Amino acid sequence: MNTTLHSYTLAYLSGEEKIEMPATRRRWNNYIEVLGASENNLKGIDVRFPLGIITVVTGVSGSGKSSLVRDVFYAALKKYYGGVADRTGAFGSLQGSMHLAKDIEFVDQNPIGRSSRSNPVTYLKAYDEIRKLYADQQLSKQMGFTPAYFSFNVEGGRCEECQGEGTVTVEMQFMADLVLECESCHGKRFKSDILDVLFKEKNIYDVLEMTVNQAIEFFSEQKDNSTCRKIVKRLKPLQDVGLGYVKLGQSSSTLSGGESQRVKLAFFLAGEKSEPTIFVFDEPTTGLHFHDIKTLMHAFNALIEKGHTVVIIEHNLDVIKCADHIIDLGPEGGTAGGNLVFAGSPEELVKCKSSYTGRYLKEKL
Ligand SMILES: Nc1ncnc2c1ncn2[C@@H]1O[C@H](COP(=O)(O)OP(=O)(O)OP(=O)(O)O)[C@@H](O)[C@H]1O
Ligand SMILES: [Mg+2]
Ligand SMILES: [Zn+2]
Repeated sequence: MNTTLHSYTLAYLSGEEKIEMPATRRRWNNYIEVLGASENNLKGIDVRFPLGIITVVTGVSGSGKSSLVRDVFYAALKKYYGGVADRTGAFGSLQGSMHLAKDIEFVDQNPIGRSSRSNPVTYLKAYDEIRKLYADQQLSKQMGFTPAYFSFNVEGGRCEECQGEGTVTVEMQFMADLVLECESCHGKRFKSDILDVLFKEKNIYDVLEMTVNQAIEFFSEQKDNSTCRKIVKRLKPLQDVGLGYVKLGQSSSTLSGGESQRVKLAFFLAGEKSEPTIFVFDEPTTGLHFHDIKTLMHAFNALIEKGHTVVIIEHNLDVIKCADHIIDLGPEGGTAGGNLVFAGSPEELVKCKSSYTGRYLKEKL
């Protein structure tokens, strides 16, 4: 029986574990303001987005959240910072402290990398260090195996039969495709002489089979090895966004939408972007468990501590109650929506009688 298994669901339902309210709301002075936003159902509204804090944009479905945040705020600023975005939604102008940020990123749930050979570890560049570690081993030096031999993206060390995928797909008529283990490498993705190269008794395939948590433990044991320290440093952000259970070699194409979004978040937490950046999330909690939401909130706070700005579109009350600032749109969906119903702190929102969000939030505060 599973009675000894700790259930997070149970712990949350019983109230033993909960998402804590922040002790204080962050204060803000600087902002970027969108003037005259009129895309889709938006009623020519002026909205201030504070910088350096967490803003949550709320409202019923169809109230105009995505129109305002994605189509106007994100698209206009992306172009302002010299980037490329889809068509910008209708609005008048931007004003405020645009110069205090250097870029804006939309962190969506689309898959990372198109190739089935890409995975969270290649995305975070931890794999570059792992390949270097294997090329540094005595046997690799004797055999002339450079880091490229430990890649599954180029010819050399990978199994050519399956091109490093470990499986081959057989197309069947009138039936789902068959995915079979590669007969040449038996699913191990590399040629046998590459698999002979060991580091602390593990070959490259063994490492790819480790979860992020296991790999961090394994490489942390080799404290005097500077490459190992770099590997741990690059893997850590995946653990921080709650992806410690993912295997290093798990193909990107098999990650869920929420997992892909968190891999992208991990990339930003790894500090690849050191300039102040505005991060936009459209419903990041979709499909997430309470426990994951908690981890996600920690990650948002970490972004703020690095000097970034976070703007989240969200229905989830646990996220809404943790906001420093709320922008509530509505009051209804469609033509009866598109107005700015409220802007301010969660404590003020519950006093706003015309806001549906305020009514529901009352029970959480
Ligand atoms: N491309 C479009 N053409 C016409 N109307 C649109 C278009 N996109 C959205 N709308 C309408 O504009 C309104 C606001 O849509 P929007 O997607 O901004 O809502 P939302 O608040 O993000 O809703 P949800 O919570 O369901 O994502 C809705 O009534 C929607 O039907
Ligand atoms: Mg939307
Ligand atoms: Zn193979």
